[in-house]
Amino acid sequence: MRIGVPKETKTLEGRVALVPAAAGDLVKRGHEVWIEKDAGIKSGFKDAEYGALGVKVAPDAAALYEKGELIVKVKEPIAGDLALLRKDHLLFCYLHLAAEPALTKQLLDIGLTGVAFETVELPNGDLPLLAPMSVIAGKIGVQVGTHLLHQPMGGKGKLLGGLPSTERGNVVVFGAGKAGGASAALAACTTRPVTVNTPGPGETTVQVPVPANPNMLQTDDVRASLDTALGTDAAGIDVKVDGTTVYLTGHVATQALHDQAVSVAQGTPGVSTVVHTGLTVQ
Ligand SMILES: NC(=O)c1ccc[n+]([C@@H]2O[C@H](COP(=O)([O-])OP(=O)(O)OC[C@H]3O[C@@H](n4cnc5c(N)ncnc54)[C@H](O)[C@@H]3O)[C@@H](O)[C@H]2O)c1
Repeated sequence: MRIGVPKETKTLEGRVALVPAAAGDLVKRGHEVWIEKDAGIKSGFKDAEYGALGVKVAPDAAALYEKGELIVKVKEPIAGDLALLRKDHLLFCYLHLAAEPALTKQLLDIGLTGVAFETVELPNGDLPLLAPMSVIAGKIGVQVGTHLLHQPMGGKGKLLGGLPSTERGNVVVFGAGKAGGASAALAACTTRPVTVNTPGPGETTVQVPVPANPNMLQTDDVRASLDTALGTDAAGIDVKVDGTTVYLTGHVATQALHDQAVSVAQGTPGVSTVVHTGLTVQ
């Protein structure tokens, strides 16, 4: 089959439907694969990378649509694409036709066969081509939410990751599906607590805590090391963590306890530096 991958024309769309490795796999399986010139450039793939795997490069959209029998793209076709689509084309991309009655009519008028990515379903009900979009949306949700917390954006001026002098943020995610799960996993890299609101038994909504990223050094980890090693002598010590740096403030009774506290904090897994200028002997 002749497979054509056009350059996306929708505003701000930078993705390409087939990465070089995927296009190369199809070539190995005996297909003739065409890619429009510079179709992969915004995703970081040069035409030469496709060419090295046996993919042919069409100079423009007209040549690409002319060559292709199966057209694989990312987003639904817009005006320029529609003018080049034919009745004998098989179109495979996100279509979202429920929200686009005008586009539905245009495709029906062309008379082609279209298969929407979002309708591809596995026997167990999973939607393998929609799920990655939900994961992207979930992760972008955290990035956008973080940005909107900035004061110039009208937010509360909070840093989710905290500072030595402030606590980390508290993130609540609504829905524990594909998008919500991705949001929670990303938020847990930066902050805690992260809580997911999700439907529980009956119609009630329950809150589920999300474990912190195990790679993230936590204040509680250092606190636990100090409490274990110094017992009640650690009660006057305050601990803050910023990245892999630990800040100790407060007071201890003797210089020996001071030195032991610094050494214990330094020995906590994940700690790179201990700053103890604020820890005094009283
Ligand atoms: N903007 C985008 O590009 C984009 C991409 C993909 C998905 N989405 C949207 O994101 C949303 C989630 O998609 P998904 O793929 O993660 O769906 P999903 O079905 O995997 O997850 C939805 C979750 O929400 C939970 N839920 C339902 N009602 C709830 C309530 N009242 N309170 C708390 N949780 C509730 C469900 O139990 C489920 O776990 C959908 O609305 C979807 O249309 C947007």
